Amino acid sequence: MPKDSLQPLLQRVAGRVVGRAREIELVVAALAADRHVLLEGPPGTGKSTLLRAVADELGLGFEFVEGNAELTPARLVGHFDPARVLSDGYDPDVFVDGPLITAMRSGSLLYVEEINRVPEETINVLITVMSERELHVPRLGRVVAIDGFRLVAAMNPFDAIGTARISSAVYDRVCRLSLGYQEALDEVSIVQRELLAGVEPDLAWLAKVVELVRRTRTHADVRIGSSVRGAIDAVAVAGSLAALRDSTVADPAVGLDAALVALSGRLRLREGCGRTADDIVSELWHAVFDPAVDSGKAKAPEGADPTPR
Ligand SMILES: Nc1ncnc2c1ncn2[C@@H]1O[C@H](COP(=O)(O)OP(=O)(O)OP(=O)(O)O)[C@@H](O)[C@H]1O
Ligand SMILES: [Mg+2]
Repeated sequence: MPKDSLQPLLQRVAGRVVGRAREIELVVAALAADRHVLLEGPPGTGKSTLLRAVADELGLGFEFVEGNAELTPARLVGHFDPARVLSDGYDPDVFVDGPLITAMRSGSLLYVEEINRVPEETINVLITVMSERELHVPRLGRVVAIDGFRLVAAMNPFDAIGTARISSAVYDRVCRLSLGYQEALDEVSIVQRELLAGVEPDLAWLAKVVELVRRTRTHADVRIGSSVRGAIDAVAVAGSLAALRDSTVADPAVGLDAALVALSGRLRLREGCGRTADDIVSELWHAVFDPAVDSGKAKAPEGADPTPR
């Protein structure tokens, strides 16, 4: 693809994705070079958002597949309609294309979410198609991928979320890009974009919600903290809770309750830490919104001697 058509494309994608300039550039370059792409990163780091934006702006067709244990080769490839096979036999017209065949025949992207949850036998089909660009389907025959067909996949890193390791045969056929959590300012912008139209939040308060969520990722008792989705939810819930209680998001009772409901289920605690997620969210909320009472360290009265005895 010529450079002059890629530059405006980068700008259009940048209009839909907060930050991630380098990642956008790399994904666009890999797709323009006709490569398969794998994005790897913790939940909520924008993998789907980025891939969707790039595919849309490239004007590529997009077949979406949710990777999970039920994604059998037949679901991915397609199947003969059993009722029609009885009347018409194994005619190609009786074959119901699955997302893989649709993408191959139309030269679209096949987008597989959570590829590390896909069963081995289905992965083997993908491996064949990635290297051969064609597939032999029993009774249907040879299906050839037309130009434009590529696999784009996303997954969470191994270990972090208890996911399976994917085979090195997959890694050897894709260009891999790893995504981490974004800067605080970018996360604030992401949350702002998700607000309902017409809602004008207090930006200083919103930045604190993001700060609270970011602290869940480095807390000593937490194995996996919340993604930016937790901040999006906390802000949305605080808004409606404030309306219900005829109060404001700045009201500590509103802010803390919204944080608890939005974040506690998202934390994976370290085994044996002996604490609850609610307890940790409360601790962090007080540390961010009410530092004076951070773990009982209330400000000493003026003139008091701060030296420990
Ligand atoms: N860089 C970004 N720009 C705009 N929105 C973003 C960005 N990153 C995350 N988001 C928003 O955060 C949420 C999660 O993003 P997304 O679904 O893309 O993450 P993901 O990496 O695909 O997560 P998962 O691993 O769980 O599939 C979405 O609401 C999305 O709109
Ligand atoms: Mg995703």
